[in-house]
Amino acid sequence: MSNLIAPSILAADFANLQKDIEMVNNSEADWFHIDIMDGVFVPNISFGMPVLKAINKHATKTIDVHLMIVNPDQYIQTFSDLGADILTVHYEACTHLHRTIQAIKAAGMKAGVALNPHTPIAVLEDIIADLDLVCIMSVNPGFGGQSFIENTYKKVSQLRHLIEFTESSCQIEIDGGVTNKNANKLIEAGANVLVAGSYVFGAENPTETIADLKNIIA
Ligand code: DX5
Ligand code: ZN
Repeated sequence: MSNLIAPSILAADFANLQKDIEMVNNSEADWFHIDIMDGVFVPNISFGMPVLKAINKHATKTIDVHLMIVNPDQYIQTFSDLGADILTVHYEACTHLHRTIQAIKAAGMKAGVALNPHTPIAVLEDIIADLDLVCIMSVNPGFGGQSFIENTYKKVSQLRHLIEFTESSCQIEIDGGVTNKNANKLIEAGANVLVAGSYVFGAENPTETIADLKNIIA
């Protein structure tokens, strides 16, 4: 499985979105990470469908949508229509997670589950075989630019063991506070997709920063 970088558009310049999308298109980045927040599941509102539609018009790489919303089931078809390739819902927001995962796949997308920092890996034991991706939150969801929670490494290796034990082909994504300081250790612990928002878009040269991260995790 190759190691991937997914810049988070939450940290892009919304007044120059097309410029930042083209930067990602022309960089060594692998995916676009799109954070959808509803102000209910998380204490922040990011952007919604019209913005994703505009992003999809220009983006030439995989669109990885991270839903931080309650009742994600009611929007599954909408996100598929908007061009999401991967749709990730929060474990904490889904009462009938198995049903939600099947609905995401039936709508033609890859299915992911995100875990908040306090949610143990063990809750995934009976769903792991159905998942294409697990997103381990390494910050509390809701905002970019927060510091990385060190307990994440332990969770990554626990998840890697679970994936190996069940022979699942699930990818492990890390979201929050990713920089050149923790990228290598995360890959060594077993992760293979790193989301990076403020570290990439806050850099003087985002294209080079993406290339550096790719180099670190190669
Ligand atoms: C946080 C979002 C993240 C965020 C990461 O709730 O899910 O994707 O954009 O931003 P950084 O890399 O700045 O922590
Ligand atoms: Zn995210």
